[in-house]
This record gives sequence, C-alpha cells and structure tokens, in this order.
Amino acid sequence: MNYKFKLTIGVMLFFMATTLKIYSQSIQVDVDKPTAKIQPTMWGIFFEDINFAADGGLYAELVKNRSFEFFDPKMGWDIERTNPDSFHFIITNRGTENPQNPRYASVILNDNKSSLSLVNEGFRGMGVKENNTYHFSILASLAKQSDVDLKVSLLDSVGEVIGETAVEIAGEAWKKYEVSFVCSKTDPKARLKLLFEGNGKVSFDMVSLFPDDTWKNRKGGLRADLVQKLADLNPGFFRFPGGCIVEGRDLSRRYQWKKTVGKIEDRTVMVNRWNTEFSHRSAPDYFQSFGLGFYEYFLLSEDIGAEPLPILNCGMACQFNTAEVVPLDQLEPYVQDALDLIEFANGSTDTEWGKLRADMGHPKPFNMKYIGVGNEQWGPQYFERYAFFEKAIMEKYPEISIVSTTGPFPEDPFFKYAKGELTKYKAALVDEHYYRTPDWFFENATRYDDYDRGSYKIFAVEYASHDRPGNDNNWLSALSEAAFMTGLERNADVVYMCSYAPLFAHVEGWQWRPDLIWFDNLNSVSTPNYYVQQLFGVNNGTDLLSIQLDGKDLTGQDGLYASSVWDANTKEVVIKIVNNNKEAKSTSVVLNSAKKFASKGTMTVIGTTDLKVYNTLENPDNIVPVNKEIKLSGSRLKLDLDPYSLTVIRVKQK
Ligand code: AHR
Repeated sequence: MNYKFKLTIGVMLFFMATTLKIYSQSIQVDVDKPTAKIQPTMWGIFFEDINFAADGGLYAELVKNRSFEFFDPKMGWDIERTNPDSFHFIITNRGTENPQNPRYASVILNDNKSSLSLVNEGFRGMGVKENNTYHFSILASLAKQSDVDLKVSLLDSVGEVIGETAVEIAGEAWKKYEVSFVCSKTDPKARLKLLFEGNGKVSFDMVSLFPDDTWKNRKGGLRADLVQKLADLNPGFFRFPGGCIVEGRDLSRRYQWKKTVGKIEDRTVMVNRWNTEFSHRSAPDYFQSFGLGFYEYFLLSEDIGAEPLPILNCGMACQFNTAEVVPLDQLEPYVQDALDLIEFANGSTDTEWGKLRADMGHPKPFNMKYIGVGNEQWGPQYFERYAFFEKAIMEKYPEISIVSTTGPFPEDPFFKYAKGELTKYKAALVDEHYYRTPDWFFENATRYDDYDRGSYKIFAVEYASHDRPGNDNNWLSALSEAAFMTGLERNADVVYMCSYAPLFAHVEGWQWRPDLIWFDNLNSVSTPNYYVQQLFGVNNGTDLLSIQLDGKDLTGQDGLYASSVWDANTKEVVIKIVNNNKEAKSTSVVLNSAKKFASKGTMTVIGTTDLKVYNTLENPDNIVPVNKEIKLSGSRLKLDLDPYSLTVIRVKQK
C-alpha cells in the first residue's frame, strides 16, 4: 500500500467516523413507527366566568345590572334629576309572580317639566367604536294616561354625546322596544344615558346595548375579537362553565344550567362566586346575567370546532368554602340535570329538552360526547355521589364519556385517595389540576412517563405555571409550560385533553392571575403562555413519534425537552423542542424514515433571554413567535436553538 492510498483510506475512515458520530449524537425521530394516536381533543380551552370573563368580557352586553337584580338594584346606575320634587324612581320586586326575574324599575314624573335620567357606567366603562352601530333594547310598559318620552344617548368619557336615538313607548302591555344608532367616536369608557321626560309612569327592565360587530354578527352575541383569539388556538375541546363556579360557595349558588337557557329575561341573575372570593381583589359588582349560558357555550364550541365539554355540580359546594353537600337521598335532581343536559345537547326535537334547543335556534344536535361530574371535589363524599351519576348516565347514555376528578392538587393525599377509588369506576377521563411553580413544570415533564396505562385517560385541563410572587404571565412561566407540554404530548397514549386556566382576565376587573388572555373594553393581548398553547394547538398532529437522543426521551438532559408528531392530514413531521438554557444550542435532528422529505421546512420560534418579559395591551409584541425557514440535507436538520426558546419545526413529505 503506497502512502497516498493509505492517506485516502485514512481520510475516508475519518469522515465516516465523524459522520457516524454526528448521526449518533443527533436527535433521532422515528417517523415510520408511530407509537400512539394523538386525540383531536389533545389541546383545548378551559372557560370560567372569573376575572369578568363573561359579563364585561366575552358576552358583548355593555349595560351592567341591566335588570336591576344585583344585591343593590341601583348598582351601576347613576340617577340624575332636573326637579327633585317631581319624580320618583322605584324598584318593584314581584318575586312570587316572576321568580326568575323579580325586579323592574319605574320612573314616575309628576309634571310636564320634569325629567329624570339614568346613566349606566358599564363594566368599568363601555368600550365603543367610531362608526359602529349599537343596538339598544328595553322591555317597557307605559301606565295609562301617561305621556313619557325616552331619549337614549351614548356619552363619551367626558360626557359629550357620541350617539343618540329615541324610543316611543306605548301601551301598558310589557313589550320589547329596539332601536339602533351609530356611534361617532371610539372611547373605552363611554356610558349610556336614558332620559325620561313628560308626565306619568313608565316601567322598564332588561335595558340592553350591544355592538353590531359581535362574533358572526349575532344579535346579543359575543365580542368578536375575544372569540377570534379562541378560534386561533385551534382548540380540540371547550370546557365550560368552570371551575369553582360550578360548585358555588354554597349549594344555593351552584351553577344550574337550566337557569341559563331559554329567554334571556327569564335567566335568573346570580352573584358571581368570585365577587367576594378574594378580599384583596373584591368585585362587589360581579354578577352572572347568564346571557352567556349553556346554549351559547354549545354554539361557541361548534363555531370554533371544539368538542363541547360541560362540567356539572355533583351535589357538593366548594370544599374550600362551605363544603355543603346534598344528602344522598336528595341527589336525584342533580343527576336528572345531567341526563336532561344530554337530552338538551343531543336529544331529538320531540323530547322536552331537545325541543328547547330547537326553539332556541339549533334543531340539529350538538353531538356532545363528554360530561364532567364535579370540579375539584375530594374525599369519599365525592365518590359516593359520583357513583349515582355514573350509574344513571351509563344506563341511559352509554356512549357518553364521563369525566371525574382527583381534587385540586396534583400529588396530595386526596389525589392519591382519588386515584385508588377511581379504579372502582368507569370514568373515561380524570381531571388533574396543576397550579405550580416554573420549577415544578420543568421537573414534571416526566409526570406521565410511568403512569398507569390500565384504566382512565388524563384530562389535564387546569394548569398554569405561577412565577411567584407576582404571578405575571412572563416568559419563564410560558417556557416551563412548554417543557411540561412536551411531556403531555410524549404521553399522548394516556393524556387525552389539556388546557391552560384561567382563560380570560379584564385588566381592571381580575381576581386571579396568571391568565391566558388579557383584555380591556376594546382590545385584548395574547400572553406568551397563549402563544405556547397556540403553537401546540395548531401543530397538534395525528400520530405520536418517538424523538430521542442517545436512546432516551428528551426530558431536560442538557436543558432540552422535546416531542414529535406526524400530521397525516398534511403529511408532515412536527417537532417541538424547548431549550431551557441561557445560551443558544446547536444540535441536529435525523428523520429516520423510508420517506423522502422536502428540502425546506418551516420553523416557528418564540424565546428571549429575558425570562421576566411579558406582553401588555400597550406593548403586545414584547414576546411573540417568529417564523423562519429551515433547510434539510437529506433527512438531517441542523438546528441552532435560541436561548430559552420553544421551537416548532414542520417538515413535509415529498
Ligand atoms: O382557574 C381558577 C380556579 O382554579 C378554578 O375555578 C378552580 O377549578 C381552580 O381551583
């Protein structure tokens, strides 16, 4: 062998060894060997009326206390008069005659010169927009021999008129009057003024003002910008109506779905449990009008392509509050509520509840597949009650999957007790909640790796990383959630549904934080946590793939966390990698597959070295995802992961 030949062989061997080394040190994705199905419900939404999420938020009604049912019936209303001696303003309570909507207001004017005006302050003001049309409505009755004019005007934050109209009220019979007008100025803090002039008595109720530009322009509908944010998450399910709100502080204030459907004026207003829950963030004006009720929740789920997932009270009030329980021999109405709800959602239109759904505008069934029994209940009292629900639902609707619970904490004795008990039941899914620190989230990326695969599936629908003490929606919290979520995804054979909580918060009216989406009366902002949810939601895929380094899942080695899926709809490999290092990280990924891939893929990156950064309404783009292109050489991707980042890569099969 001559020298030149030896050198050539040497160089070749060196290159082969280097290539082999690079390949073995690369992250390996087994594209052709899916290990589990990803449920279409994997990433979803948890909704609760907390932080003014419903009234004052998603529900676009601008008038607060529209039917005078708050504890103080005049709350939200300012009364102005021209002549104090010549008017009366009274609230009538006709409780026995109309228990659902007991109160209404009356104005009595005693001479033709007098006038009285009522000004509604809205939910920390009313957000109104220039050139937008506003629909005013009122239920009213004019007493005999009365002659009263009603002028309606929208005032801006300094009291100037920015829209007006008049309503001609006629006749003693209660009637709904509707008028519309255009607003001439954008203002986040407008107010609504009703000016009564004349002689006699006029009674009224359900004073309402809605913008025209609601979601899908539905009359009396939802705030379009907020619904759009939900739709953009590509949610697989929509859980409602909570949360602790389901339980109530006591049983009389539990959430009762039947009181939230049918005519708007017959939905009984109830105090919101978050009104007084936290003394440091008390909200005495926080009530539930139920204008956003169960029918609207089902409709919203349908609109955004998410499986509806209602949770019902199981005969127990919040165990952190009164811990009231209904005796087992009086549980029947609660169980019946669950059966009737299934009929409301899915029953034919000749059933009692199916007919109501049709009358409300949706003859087609909502095709509900899941129902939750109880929220964060714990102890034997829960399972005693749960058993009744399971028996009744399984007997009548065996096709429905029941969601059970393990209590409020992810590893305490109640949780362990519940896990033991659950082996005796047939719950399809079990709810686990985690409100924990960022460290907990990083550490728990492996939480489900050794979980029991023998019985139920995981419904991880209340989690949020709390970076104490501020609990800001900062990048550290979102990054730790992303790491944890790679663990949820890697275990998609047992984890079927996941969502962040809570969902919404009004910047001036919140009780709890962090929250996924913050808003004021006109605008909203996506938190970094929202972008993380979105990146998982829109990159959900259909089949789970193994992604490993040195034969091991990436669960924090060297600060890296990863999961991968195949998307059969688009024929793409999707890779999610979290780099929890303050330095950039270079690595490579090999796609082990008989398939051929396009030479370019897409890459979306969100990250920053400033772990404390968050988005605000004023600066919504402090941290947002950025799209890039990535090149493949054969089946290999060379990656430079940004410091403290989540990277999502999509590579298409040729
Ligand atoms: O998401 C806020 C609250 O946290 C929910 O109402 C409750 O289920 C949990 O304790």
